[in-house]
Amino acid sequence: MHLACVLGTRPEAIKLAPVIRAARAAGHRCDILSTGQHREMLRQALDGWGLEPALDLALMRPGQGLSALAAGVLGGLEPWLEQHRPDWVLVQGDTTSAMAGALASFHARLPLAHVEAGLRSGDLDAPFPEEANRSLIARLARLHFAPTAAARAHLRREGVADEAIRVTGNTGVDALLAVAAERPLPPVPLDGARRLVLATAHRRESQDGGLDRLAAALARLAARPGVQLVVALHRNPAAAHPLRRALAGVPGAALLPPLAHRDFVALLCRAALVVTDSGGVQEEAAALGIPVLVAREETDRPGGPAEVVGLDGARLLAAAERVLDAPPAPLRPCLAHGDGRAAGRILRALEAALPRRAARAAGA
Ligand code: UD1
Ligand code: UDP
Repeated sequence: MHLACVLGTRPEAIKLAPVIRAARAAGHRCDILSTGQHREMLRQALDGWGLEPALDLALMRPGQGLSALAAGVLGGLEPWLEQHRPDWVLVQGDTTSAMAGALASFHARLPLAHVEAGLRSGDLDAPFPEEANRSLIARLARLHFAPTAAARAHLRREGVADEAIRVTGNTGVDALLAVAAERPLPPVPLDGARRLVLATAHRRESQDGGLDRLAAALARLAARPGVQLVVALHRNPAAAHPLRRALAGVPGAALLPPLAHRDFVALLCRAALVVTDSGGVQEEAAALGIPVLVAREETDRPGGPAEVVGLDGARLLAAAERVLDAPPAPLRPCLAHGDGRAAGRILRALEAALPRRAARAAGA
């Protein structure tokens, strides 16, 4: 079987890596087609798994617009897809790379499979543009790998045939558990006497003021005795600046550049509390049983120990204090988003669907 995985950002690389690894271990050809939507952060994520793209469109530009990016993916993928004609094109999640990769696959009349299918917030404006991207991909995919039963229910409601959906768990949990099993050491010294709060933030819809409110609340949290705040910044200046502005020089706060996944997981495993607007980080914290405050107005990933606090500083602080004032509790890992075996399920489903496709192509 010949698979082609289209990916462009850090989370896509992390979440497709277990599938790529499983496919190659089973003797299948699995090519990585990088749009290069991200540059350094994608390289970091691919390096963590020893992965090299077969094609790199190197599209990233400072302050990139969504339409120019999508156009670059469409035009860039077409020649490769037409020349190599893989048995399946795989996309993951809801980025512009995934959406445009799905459309390029459709234009080339190649069957598309969607990993992490069926997440919905119900609000086209949040997350923006991801809510639209994942719905568009669902219209084009032949196989939908839903992480949860709730995601399957969303797809069914939109008319996707039951036979085309598999509930697999989230491949991000596969990646997390594989990395955590190696017991990575933290990339910065941690003060055992203080409780670690780990934060990330990057969402586009929060970049007009929301991140400033979040950053101000984090600064107040860092000032509490007994707290060590570590912020893993995004490489996007529009996401990093508000955090730098509010937190640079604040005692008790450390601002780190985007971390290699194993370094991030090392911190995650030691965190008393996670504050994030990242979908992937929310899933990872939940999988480990670490309390997580979701700095968004909604979550498309319900389940587990997550509390949605939005970008209202007072609400976030109150929730954080509730967690930090309680005595440390034993972690209760949660299987809401997956059990670490999603990649194997995805691979078996792709293999099983192949003979039917081949027979159809032969006119049987
Ligand atoms: C994108 C995805 C979002 C995903 C996030 C993961 C879309 C529409 N958005 O966010 O779903 O959650 O990635 O992180 O697909 N930059 C660098 N180096 C990098 C990466 C980014 O310098 O390695 C800078 C560039 O200036 C770039 C900017 O960050 O223009 C924004 O990158 P982009 O991929 O457009 O970010 P988002 O759309 O916010
Ligand atoms: N991550 C990482 N380094 C960091 C911060 C996050 O490797 O400094 C990982 C994190 O563990 C998760 C993924 O990146 O697997 C989430 O990516 P991101 O927050 O960029 O995107 P989202 O999940 O919101 O789409």
